[in-house]
Amino acid sequence: MPIILGLESSCDETAAALVTSDRVVLAHRLAGQEAAHRPYGGVVPEIAARAHVEALIPLVEAALDDAGMTLAQVDAIAATAGPGLIGGVMVGLVTGKALAHAAGKPLIAVNHLEGHALSPRLADMTLDFPYLLLLVSGGHCQLLEVRGVGDYRRLATTIDDAAGEAFDKTAKLLGLGIPGGPKVEALAREGDPRAVPLPRPLAGTAEPHFSFAGLKSAVMRAVESGRWSHADIAASFQQAVVDCLVDRTARALDVADRPTALVVAGGVAANGAVRGALQALASAHDLPFVAPPLWLCTDNAAMIGWAGAERFAAGLIDDLAFPARPRWPL
Ligand code: KG4
Ligand code: ZN
Repeated sequence: MPIILGLESSCDETAAALVTSDRVVLAHRLAGQEAAHRPYGGVVPEIAARAHVEALIPLVEAALDDAGMTLAQVDAIAATAGPGLIGGVMVGLVTGKALAHAAGKPLIAVNHLEGHALSPRLADMTLDFPYLLLLVSGGHCQLLEVRGVGDYRRLATTIDDAAGEAFDKTAKLLGLGIPGGPKVEALAREGDPRAVPLPRPLAGTAEPHFSFAGLKSAVMRAVESGRWSHADIAASFQQAVVDCLVDRTARALDVADRPTALVVAGGVAANGAVRGALQALASAHDLPFVAPPLWLCTDNAAMIGWAGAERFAAGLIDDLAFPARPRWPL
């Protein structure tokens, strides 16, 4: 059974994992960089890239140790080649190339979005193509028809911010710091989701696109007005995001080509309110709902190793000259 080493370094998580083609995660190691970025209130690309350089090889060694393996026993090396912060992407991709070259193993250059898109299949062996995927992370908010490995049709994207970005900006406005999403979710539990009137941008429109910039501005005005508690603002903001995601996903279900399941992936899929609302939407459409476990929703290397395993099985390997891509639509 092929064993793939996965590497991830496209944002602020450095990670290495060993995954088999039959869905066994032999090891997964991850190092966050929150402390390094906290003084700046967000991810600083230059600091992220330097932290990846320091962390990645020790994480690879630790993952191999955890699995009781050597690099010689790995069948292929999968590294994120984009999209993301280019300095970090280059660290992971070049590390993957060096390891592949030194150990004489094939390189698989993985699109980070494909990592998120296929991660639900690592967690759920019954999930078959095609499925409708809501991919919601800090950098992306898209509805995709996942028709096969390397075969994606994008039905919708955001015309401004991503949903995770809206969570992060709201966290900043509420003085919660980073990581924004989980902190807003925790505060929202103490507030009333109907307290603050906030917009649902693009809700009801025919094309299933997203927009969150107007919501962020409305949150800013609500904070400045001093009329509501921060908990009520957090809860109302989260409800507005949930309503937008559900409205847009429902629209996509109308136009998608007979999906076998509704699937959510990406960091925002870790949000309990988002998961609950999508689960209800799937039930209303008589579709199974699949969401990866929380650790597999946010950035990690197991999803890159798994995308590598799926590509490897399909005979898709890459040249050592494969470029690092800051932008790379699926
Ligand atoms: O997929 P991910 O780890 O990195 C990207 O590829 O962007 O997603 C990170 C995003 C951040 O914006 C973070 O605030 C958001 O996912 N996020 C959440 C939650 N956990 C992470 N948003 C809402 N609720 C959460 N529990
Ligand atoms: Zn991601």
